[in-house]
Amino acid sequence: MIIAANFKTNHTRESTANYLEALNLFLDAYPTHCDVRVYPAASSLLRADLYPHVKLGAQNFYPAVNGAYTGETGAQQLDEFGIKNVLTGHSERRIILKETQDFIAKKYAFARSNNWEIIYCIGEPKDVRDNGFKAVAEYLWAEFDGIDTDYEKLSVAYEPIWAIGTGISAQTEEIAEVLDMLKAELKSVPLLYGGSVNAENLRQIVSLKSCGGALIGNAALDAANFCKLIQIAQNK
Ligand code: PGA
Repeated sequence: MIIAANFKTNHTRESTANYLEALNLFLDAYPTHCDVRVYPAASSLLRADLYPHVKLGAQNFYPAVNGAYTGETGAQQLDEFGIKNVLTGHSERRIILKETQDFIAKKYAFARSNNWEIIYCIGEPKDVRDNGFKAVAEYLWAEFDGIDTDYEKLSVAYEPIWAIGTGISAQTEEIAEVLDMLKAELKSVPLLYGGSVNAENLRQIVSLKSCGGALIGNAALDAANFCKLIQIAQNK
């Protein structure tokens, strides 16, 4: 079970360090079978080996070791922190930062060539959801264009765009329908759900037979709350 916190553009370097310290202490006191991951902002990355119970990851990277890519972070910069896992394909990067499927596929291939663990995010907008499951399925499969899913360090996060940050999670039946469809094709790839996950809905979500974890934004910003979510996943 993967339980991952996506900080997005939240937390400073100092508050990230305090958070990770608290989380690592908690996991030391209450060992978990969950694979706990935290994705801080690029400016708040810390050495991954300082927090042995947590996998630190990068929310974003440029598909190059280094070079002339103003404002971007390459593999050399992530290596310095011992970062070996990344998010790719998040809808905020697809929509706000205008990342195309072609560019996302390049990033994915680069992450794979570095042997990084990848949480690859997919999710449909509201207007597609309103057109029914067939439309959702078509939309989601198109987000696999150029993505070689035959990779043992891949997890896929289904995050309906209309459920992200809105406080309105998808219904458990809607999540189950999509995760079951993905499972039929992706077999052993762990499947996560993301989109307004919180302490009230997590237990039901992680109990779904095709669900292998959750990618959590808002509800994971507070360390104590994230610890609570880990416990819920642990005890499901
Ligand atoms: P949320 O974000 O939990 O705040 O909806 C999830 C995500 O975007 O990964």
